Amino acid sequence: MQSRSDVFIPFIKPFIAEKEIVVSHGKGAVVYDTEGNSYIDMFGMHSAAVQGYSHPKIVEAVKRQAEKIMHVTYDFATEPSVKLAEKLIEITPEGLNRVYLLNSGAEADEAAVYTARRATGRYELIALYGAFHGRTYGARSLIGWRGYKTGGGPFLPGVHHMPSYYCYRCSLGLEHPGCNLQCARLLSDVITYQTSGEVAAFVAEPMQGTAGNIPAPSGYFTTVKKILDEYEILLIDDEVITGFARTGRMFAIEHYGVTPDIMVVAKALGGGLPVSAIVATEDVASKVMPMDYFTTFGGNPLAAAAALAAIEVIEEEKLVERSQKLGDYLMKRLRELQEKHELIGDVRGKGLLIGVELVKDRKTKEPAREESYQVRVECLKRGVIMPAGMGWLGNVIRMNPPLVITEEQIDKAVDVLDEALKAVG
Ligand SMILES: Cc1ncc(COP(=O)(O)O)c(C=O)c1O
Repeated sequence: MQSRSDVFIPFIKPFIAEKEIVVSHGKGAVVYDTEGNSYIDMFGMHSAAVQGYSHPKIVEAVKRQAEKIMHVTYDFATEPSVKLAEKLIEITPEGLNRVYLLNSGAEADEAAVYTARRATGRYELIALYGAFHGRTYGARSLIGWRGYKTGGGPFLPGVHHMPSYYCYRCSLGLEHPGCNLQCARLLSDVITYQTSGEVAAFVAEPMQGTAGNIPAPSGYFTTVKKILDEYEILLIDDEVITGFARTGRMFAIEHYGVTPDIMVVAKALGGGLPVSAIVATEDVASKVMPMDYFTTFGGNPLAAAAALAAIEVIEEEKLVERSQKLGDYLMKRLRELQEKHELIGDVRGKGLLIGVELVKDRKTKEPAREESYQVRVECLKRGVIMPAGMGWLGNVIRMNPPLVITEEQIDKAVDVLDEALKAVG
């Protein structure tokens, strides 16, 4: 087999530059390569592997559906697609009761934006510094980090960005909780001074994933929602990374006590297959006309059958509770490591979405970028896929392992991290 650099357009970096890993198979929270090595996975393939790898129930559902029919477009209903829509309505917050099935997270964010524009008759959008919503053109326009936009512009007009809820590195130079959530209150000024009064939606992740697994502080979304309601602006809640038990709730927005107008879900929804969705209020959905949006494979029965089984696994195996319990345990163990290693500046998160920020100096908070990357290399040598060297500053370990991971595997991964930090510290 050729090296992938000989056959792929070089959009993607290998997990480590030193050695290409060719994945062969996976089971639970463990990934195996073609050379027979096994790795405990703390990465969860960008958080998508919530149910673990090749979960037997999902595999069985896919096999069964593949034998019946794999491809039916939206023009016809199928049992799996209708059942999946019913299930999504059941598990998302009350009031969200219309579903649109698509293929990827970025595409679903595009559809959410289109829907918000149709519903409001307005076009402007407000997103956050540090936000990540995917790499299609509209979704990329919402990204709040220049590195993923450089050379690709100009981007969508009418997109405004405002400081986020990154408490460890507050753009406003304030400290939580004494800050009175000024980053949320600023929304009112952004609407007044930056926009032309044509704002359709405020788009946000309830916890910023790609930026470095950063949870919003409590009160953030209630403050934001009050302002949005005043201006009749919709809230688009991007749960692509945080959805499906990842943060110790079925959806992360449940931590914050607000109901969005549109929720965007993907990644873990498919249990390994590509499927995404937007779930909207009836009021919003009623403004969208047939064929306003269409995608050939959206809602195809194979992906829908996989997604139904994937949600059943979350429910049957009580992965919401498991995520909370194991997340608390992992957080405790990481805080113990923080006491030992000066390199660890911040440990934060909810459930099994945890960010560990490495800094050269706890006072200046200078990002320990090289050390972070070396931690990734050292962990891999010891059989752990540790997503260090991530976040916009390249210094965060973004832990989002499969939720089926065991306490013993977490212990092994933390012990390996301890050794790696010693090796690079
Ligand atoms: C919050 C968020 N939105 C959207 C996306 C894009 O999803 P996809 O890669 O499926 O297009 C991602 C991907 O990481 C994400 O984290």
